[in-house]
Amino acid sequence: MRIVMKLHPVILPLTTEEQRLRGRARLQAQSRRAREALARSCEASGVRLGLLEKGDRNIPLPFHGTFWSLSHKPRYVAAVVGPAPIGIDIEEITPRTEGLLDYIASKAEWALADRLWETFFRFWTAKEAVLKAIGVGLAHLTKARIHAILDNDNLIVDYASRLWHVRHFRFQNHIVSLTHDGHEIAWNFVLEPHALDDPVPVPPQPQA
Ligand SMILES: CC(C)(COP(=O)(O)OP(=O)(O)OC[C@H]1O[C@@H](n2cnc3c(N)ncnc32)[C@H](O)[C@@H]1OP(=O)(O)O)[C@@H](O)C(=O)NCCC(=O)NCCS
Repeated sequence: MRIVMKLHPVILPLTTEEQRLRGRARLQAQSRRAREALARSCEASGVRLGLLEKGDRNIPLPFHGTFWSLSHKPRYVAAVVGPAPIGIDIEEITPRTEGLLDYIASKAEWALADRLWETFFRFWTAKEAVLKAIGVGLAHLTKARIHAILDNDNLIVDYASRLWHVRHFRFQNHIVSLTHDGHEIAWNFVLEPHALDDPVPVPPQPQA
């Protein structure tokens, strides 16, 4: 019998201090916050956090049979663990250059939804989440196709001879996309960030 696990994606804000950082320091803070979100996703899922090691092309390697994925943007991070390859992506919905609209999706895909920036980021994050689940990079973005839009929060991506179900979560002008295999999903959206010196669960780090 297949045990269907509930997924517990966690979204955390960065502190004002973290958002003020620039360059490498900012990326490190985002990465650290995303790992805190991952630790919280483990806790909510009843999974023991393991070493967060990465393989070729930076692909997150599963620990104790648990797969993980994370995403970090300047204001928020998102992370999730699951029993099978999984992908999560978060973006802020802000207008970009017009040309990107036709880069992210073909005419056939745009025929499925209104040509809006919200749709653009829906498509973008859905495709990126699928690429992360497989472990390939952005170079494959145009090979992934929006196959169907089920409703406002669910769509299907066709990539690598497989149909991938993706669920969205929207908040404060951001959108998160998460791949799933029909799992129940309990979104954990934490509004208040910890101060930098607050005790937060820090995942064990791989030895250099
Ligand atoms: C994966 C990728 C699409 C993420 O892009 P992004 O929107 O800039 O970043 P996000 O914040 O959403 O996600 C970053 C996280 O994705 C994960 N990630 C990186 N590469 C990944 C891959 N190939 N597969 C799955 N997840 C990956 C990492 O956990 C990373 O966070 P970390 O560096 O703090 O561990 C992009 O980095 C990419 O195309 N990577 C592959 C490039 C590649 O093959 N490089 C080869 C040399 S390393």
